[in-house]
Amino acid sequence: MTFNEYKATGKINNKHMLTLMDYSTEEIWEILKCAIELKKKQYAREPHPYLKDKTLAMIFAKSSTRTRISFEQGFKQLGGSPLFLSTNDIQLGRGEPIRDTVRVLERMNIDGIMIRTYKQSDLEELAKWGHIPIINGLTDEYHPCQVLADLLTVYEKFGKLEGLKLTFFGEGFNMANSLMLGCAKVGMDVCICAPEDLQPDPAVVEAAKKSAVGGAKVTVTSDVDEAVKGADVVYTDVFFSMGQAKDPAKEAAMMPMQVNSVMMKKANPDAIFLHCLPAHRGEEVTDEVMEGKQSWIFQEAENRLHAQKAVMYLLMKE
Ligand code: CP
Ligand code: NVA
Repeated sequence: MTFNEYKATGKINNKHMLTLMDYSTEEIWEILKCAIELKKKQYAREPHPYLKDKTLAMIFAKSSTRTRISFEQGFKQLGGSPLFLSTNDIQLGRGEPIRDTVRVLERMNIDGIMIRTYKQSDLEELAKWGHIPIINGLTDEYHPCQVLADLLTVYEKFGKLEGLKLTFFGEGFNMANSLMLGCAKVGMDVCICAPEDLQPDPAVVEAAKKSAVGGAKVTVTSDVDEAVKGADVVYTDVFFSMGQAKDPAKEAAMMPMQVNSVMMKKANPDAIFLHCLPAHRGEEVTDEVMEGKQSWIFQEAENRLHAQKAVMYLLMKE
């Protein structure tokens, strides 16, 4: 079956969105179909308050523009009340245990938690001690909601997902991990191009390979020309993620992977450029590519809203 042939059921079996590792192809399709419907409703100005009277706690231990705004706006559009909690202000940031925090939030009728933090294990701890859905708004290991928005964007451009190739230029960190899993599970070839000592955790590469459908290939290389060849989507991310110190040696190693117009010419002629943002022009990408005709970065950013509304709806409706 293909994504276009799949008929939405309005249901997923997962309770949380911790990582796409836990999601089946059908569940990812379900979220994307739901996102497409919710986007249509929003464009038609048709109210869709499916989560009326619900409250979402949004815990941030790192900065954010897109994730914060899209979850906050999205939850309001679904009729609920989002509650922004910075770890600079709540006791969690002063060492109150996660297990206590989640049980307190539940007692105060919080219906779900979106969290952006460092360790993936913190999300597992929240899920273990609480009873409410936990949504990953980025950890060092994964950024699943970003990748759902990316897949929606790719679908909007190409009208299909199966058989396309996405190449990611960047280290084996949250974006590479989630892109490998998300693309493989919807039948897209995915290639991660990074210097050898910055490549993704082999366990995640193996998991992506195992869950690949329709013969989708998962490859890791340091060969830039090989990586970009045949790419329908060229994707990159910052050299230094949140929480990482600047390192001139790493920057020098990453520079050959900069997405510039010479590189874009080596991809397929109708390839698009994506970036989770924020971007550092002159480092991982040039201004010319960011502002060029192949750049779909703002449609991609908008799709965070629609994809996450689908996640919140599917996880938080009764
Ligand atoms: N792409 C992304 O997650 O952006 P923010 O860091 O602004 O949330
Ligand atoms: N890899 C980046 C993604 C930001 C959305 C970071 O973790 O900072």
